[in-house]
Amino acid sequence: MTKKSFYLEGNYAPVMHEVTAENLAVRGAIPRELHGLYLRNGPNPRAGTSSHWFFGDGMIHGIELGDGAVRWYRNRWVRTRTFLEDAAVISPAGEVDLTAGPANTHVVEHAGRIFALVESSYPTELTRELDTLGTCDFDGKLRTAMTAHPKRCPRSGELHFFGYGFMPPYLTYHVLDAAGRLVRSEEITVAGPTMIHDFAITDRHVIFMDLPVCFDLERAMRGSMPYRWDDNYGARIGVMPRDRHNGNAGDVRWFEVAPCYVFHPMNAYEDAGGNVVIDVVRYETLWRDTADRFDAARLHRWTIDPGAGRVAEAALDDRTIEFPRVDERCTGGEHRYGYAVANPGGGVNQPATKLLKYDLRSGRVEEHDFGPGRVPGEGVFAPASDRAGEDEGWVMTYVYDARDDASDFVVLDAQKFSAPPVAVVRLPQRVPYGFHGSWIPD
Ligand SMILES: [Fe+2]
Repeated sequence: MTKKSFYLEGNYAPVMHEVTAENLAVRGAIPRELHGLYLRNGPNPRAGTSSHWFFGDGMIHGIELGDGAVRWYRNRWVRTRTFLEDAAVISPAGEVDLTAGPANTHVVEHAGRIFALVESSYPTELTRELDTLGTCDFDGKLRTAMTAHPKRCPRSGELHFFGYGFMPPYLTYHVLDAAGRLVRSEEITVAGPTMIHDFAITDRHVIFMDLPVCFDLERAMRGSMPYRWDDNYGARIGVMPRDRHNGNAGDVRWFEVAPCYVFHPMNAYEDAGGNVVIDVVRYETLWRDTADRFDAARLHRWTIDPGAGRVAEAALDDRTIEFPRVDERCTGGEHRYGYAVANPGGGVNQPATKLLKYDLRSGRVEEHDFGPGRVPGEGVFAPASDRAGEDEGWVMTYVYDARDDASDFVVLDAQKFSAPPVAVVRLPQRVPYGFHGSWIPD
């Protein structure tokens, strides 16, 4: 018997029931300011197995908060065509079907609509009760896949995103306006088909990462993870003017950096000197020999001096982390604080018991240790009010407790990060380790 892949064992293993539970008991107190949904997506293969961690059918685990109560918890598979009909993103003839896909990576809200996202496909729209409405192409205007990591500009209300694929156009930049209409799509020229998981914006720029994890069609046709490290591809960051009056896709400037891979930037901004600063969780290499191992990744800063055409690279910390987040009211502007999951063993498949809070001004790092066997997922920040300062609010996550094979919803006070949680809610079933989530206020 072959050894099971890590992502099918322990708390990576899928759950097979969709549960609804109302008015859950709270230890501590849910802050009364929190009215809305906390939703988190992750792979949960209905068949009990998948050929890669990233390929399992998406399942949303959701909580509705209001008036200091947990009104409900529910978990639902995203009913994609892949879930319902086993539809393939890439056909045997090598054609791409953007209406298929596992919709398993992130869940976001924009202009009153909730979308489950995976980077291979169109977004899948959900109701507030997590029922699936279907894929969305924004009135036929979206002709590429949509990244799972769109960025909302807190100043304009626009949602910036991109789509990438293994056939030209390899990379396309898009903007939804604040009302949710697709108002801009521009092809970005890159050297080849690479895995582009995420990107960043500043108030005046869009930042793309063209990094050496490259597509291999033969692997794709076999149904396995089609991307591998390529020593010959190089690595570069593209900086594009955001305001179309200042430029367009033809004005992207590319800056060489040391080869690496980045799934997730923490945030980016333009500093007082006109440098473009981007903080990222950086892997020295990724998937050189196998796509089932994730080596250590650390917080790293690229400071791009557009005038001089140079990038300064600096390690910000030697801890190994993943799933960086900020107070999203800082997206594209300077962030002082960031939150991340600690991984003492390195890599995203090494569960650990701590969330970290970075103070990038002082260099101080605070830890919240959930205790032996208690493993948090990504921490999502919710502000205490619209007027609250950065970091004034709560960080929420699901925590798996290996001692009793169960999960909790946990709320931390961001400004008392190391203190005991303000609320812990035992859930009616285990929540498998997953990827990304959102706080969606009413
Ligand atoms: Fe991601």
